Amino acid sequence: MGLQLKQFLLTLKSLAFTALLIGGLGAGEASAQDGEKLFKQNCSSCHKINQNMTGPALKGTRERWEGREELLYQWIQNPAAVADMGDNYVKALLDEWMPRSGLMNAQAVNKEEIDAILDYVDNWEPPAPKVADDAVAETASVDQDGGISSTWLLIVVFILLILVFSLWGVRSSLNKLQKAMAEAEGREIRPEMPFGEKAKIWLWDNKVYVSIAGIFVVVYLAVAGYDALMGVGVYTGYTPDQPIAFDHKLHAGENGVACVYCHHSATKSKHAGIPSTNICMNCHKGINEGRSEEGTAEIQKIYAAVGWDQDRQEYTGEENPIQWVKVHNLPDHAYFNHAQHYVVGQIECQECHGQMQEDYTVAGQYAPLTMGWCINCHNETAVQMDGNGYYDEVHGRLVDHNKEELKKYLEDGTITARELGGWECSKCHY
Ligand code: HEC
Ligand code: HEC
Ligand code: HEC
Ligand code: HEC
Ligand code: HEC
Ligand code: HEC
Repeated sequence: MGLQLKQFLLTLKSLAFTALLIGGLGAGEASAQDGEKLFKQNCSSCHKINQNMTGPALKGTRERWEGREELLYQWIQNPAAVADMGDNYVKALLDEWMPRSGLMNAQAVNKEEIDAILDYVDNWEPPAPKVADDAVAETASVDQDGGISSTWLLIVVFILLILVFSLWGVRSSLNKLQKAMAEAEGREIRPEMPFGEKAKIWLWDNKVYVSIAGIFVVVYLAVAGYDALMGVGVYTGYTPDQPIAFDHKLHAGENGVACVYCHHSATKSKHAGIPSTNICMNCHKGINEGRSEEGTAEIQKIYAAVGWDQDRQEYTGEENPIQWVKVHNLPDHAYFNHAQHYVVGQIECQECHGQMQEDYTVAGQYAPLTMGWCINCHNETAVQMDGNGYYDEVHGRLVDHNKEELKKYLEDGTITARELGGWECSKCHY
């Protein structure tokens, strides 16, 4: 029974997906704003928006520079020149920042570009967990709080109750009236019917109301069922406790360790993998103190796992491998390959995992990992053809043999992952 039900649900869900596919799920997000792009290209290596890094947090720049608008442009384009002008604000800024970071270097951006960057900074909001498309977003949020569904349920139940009570009231007063009239006329009163019989007659007599109520129930169940199905296996924001309090923000952010230093198999295999304790030891042989006592205690756990005697500076041979709790879990029937996306597709880890180096002190699931999420991106993302050896062959084949097809692909100037087969069921399903 359980299995059959599951099968049935899966079929339903796939129908829903097919409908989504046909309905053109990937209608497209607004294109990335220029300001954001410029900021990321030019400034984000030193500046964050709401946090100091190498340079100050840029949030509120315009207010701080009020009355110095022209100077602000000049500063960004040529800090050295402005530093020599002796402006009070700039002086204070340099007193604070020069000792730690030195002088900001000149930025090759024009005024419009600076405006775009500062607009972006002004309008920036702390990131909410991003979800790939509206359809998924809706279901995910419904799934999380159940708010919409339970409101629906309450409304339907309320309407039904009112209906039942009022009908019952009408019914029983009619009955009483009938009895009274029969008694007055001396007629024989029909014997009481069994409840089932009565219910049947009542249902039939009130078929209009009953069918309206029925429709409500069916619609409700359909909505609730669809929500539940779309939410199956969606664990956005899942951040389980880990055996060691490993902190991505501290390692990949503050200390700037590259993602692939630890997750190096992402460059050559399906899996990104979790680093072995030996990789931790590359640094933690030397770094045996954390920022706090708890941090130091956590580092001791690495030593216990790898069998390192800190006092004697040697391995004891007693290993207790760390059992990390897996955060991401695609179902077995789906195939995902890291190297394909990171190396060939040239997609940054952060596209799919969020700003791990800024937002995650405990690793968590950022993207919904639903099929809608995968195919939505395949529909939108242009394949990186330029300078990508992997595609020389594909490209050659298209140019040589299939001019018509190439023309079709290139109509909009790009070839998306979808156009290369990224929507074929068999690419992702075993
Ligand atoms: C190489 C690092 C670096 C880059 C890249 C960089 N900055 Fe800076 N920025 C700094 C530093 C450091 C300071 C602090 C002043 C100083 O020491 O020069 C600063 C200060 C500023 C300030 C003054 C902030 C305040 O609080 O008043 C603004 C505005 C600014 N930068 C804008 C930008 C913009 C816009 C970009 C990109 C187009 C950019 N910076 C790129 C390092 C950088
Ligand atoms: C110093 C080593 C190190 C670096 C650098 C590092 N990670 Fe990790 N990462 C780990 C460890 C250890 C775990 C397992 C513990 C955990 O889940 O918190 C992990 C877990 C993860 C997970 C969750 C895996 C799961 O269980 O599904 C993701 C996603 C991830 N890292 C992405 C990144 C990204 C993206 C970067 C770069 C911004 C990065 N990591 C940098 C060590 C590292
Ligand atoms: C196109 C989206 C995408 C990109 C880009 C991506 N990942 Fe993943 N990542 C996933 C998905 C989907 C899973 C779940 C895979 C599974 O369960 O089989 C995953 C799982 C992981 C895991 C858990 C362990 C594993 O191998 O399943 C780690 C760690 C991880 N990613 C790190 C990284 C790092 C580091 C990068 C950049 C080098 C990266 N990811 C780039 C989508 C992506
Ligand atoms: C590239 C070097 C490097 C690698 C590799 C590395 N760490 Fe660290 N780790 C650091 C640095 C630097 C600190 C910060 C020490 C400080 O600020 O006192 C640190 C701190 C820590 C802390 C203490 C955090 C705190 O709150 O004080 C823990 C726990 C930790 N690392 C676990 C790990 C684990 C587990 C691994 C392997 C998966 C690992 N580290 C790999 C460099 C590294
Ligand atoms: C951020 C965008 C993005 C997301 C999210 C994404 N992909 Fe992709 N995917 C791509 C791009 C771009 C390519 C084309 C890479 C290439 O071959 O150049 C690709 C290629 C693929 C391919 C190879 C297709 C072929 O024609 O050979 C498979 C399989 C695949 N993705 C599976 C998945 C699965 C499964 C998921 C979801 C768990 C997923 N992808 C999520 C961007 C994405
Ligand atoms: C780009 C990759 C990709 C393509 C193409 C793709 N799927 Fe999926 N599909 C997935 C992933 C990932 C999941 C798992 C989603 C989850 O667990 O929520 C999935 C799940 C499913 C499920 C199970 C329902 C579920 O959520 O567990 C069915 C049925 C399904 N896909 C059918 C299809 C059909 C039919 C096609 C072809 C029209 C197709 N898929 C094409 C990635 C893909």
